[in-house]
Amino acid sequence: MTRLLLLNGPNLNLLGTREPDIYGAETLQGIERRATHLARAEGIELACFQSNAEHELIGRIQQAPAEKVEVLIFNPGAFTHTSIALRDAVLAVGLPMIEVHLSNPQAREEFRRRSYFSDIAIGVISGFGPLGYELAVRAACGHLAAGDRARPRVRASS
Ligand code: DQA
Repeated sequence: MTRLLLLNGPNLNLLGTREPDIYGAETLQGIERRATHLARAEGIELACFQSNAEHELIGRIQQAPAEKVEVLIFNPGAFTHTSIALRDAVLAVGLPMIEVHLSNPQAREEFRRRSYFSDIAIGVISGFGPLGYELAVRAACGHLAAGDRARPRVRASS
């Protein structure tokens, strides 16, 4: 079964109580549950992982190919703006990645405008709160379906 991996970075475990005026009232557990159900309805398995530690996120990304993950959905939190190591991990495994943010970092402080991920993502979803994760699951399913349609054509012409 196709697998998606939903990764969340630091402080996203506090969703629900963390700056609710910016990040909303929904918990990460609620977000993960809805994303999991949505993926399952599409016949796709979704695994979820959150960590406040950069090295744990790197470890999970490095494991992803062995776990048969096909697309990463990633909200790196504040690591978005700082982590070349996480960027390198995504590049190292070579998996397509969708970057998600609850808020719109471009409309916030200057230091949030730089992302180490946007230029290597297949797409970026930001500013739609928890809905962004559902949009990302749909986008990942669409990406996989497009790949499945493309693959036989590639084989037929070679
Ligand atoms: C965030 C935006 C980041 O700038 C911030 O550090 C976060 C959350 C978001 O989802 O809007 O932790 O990634």
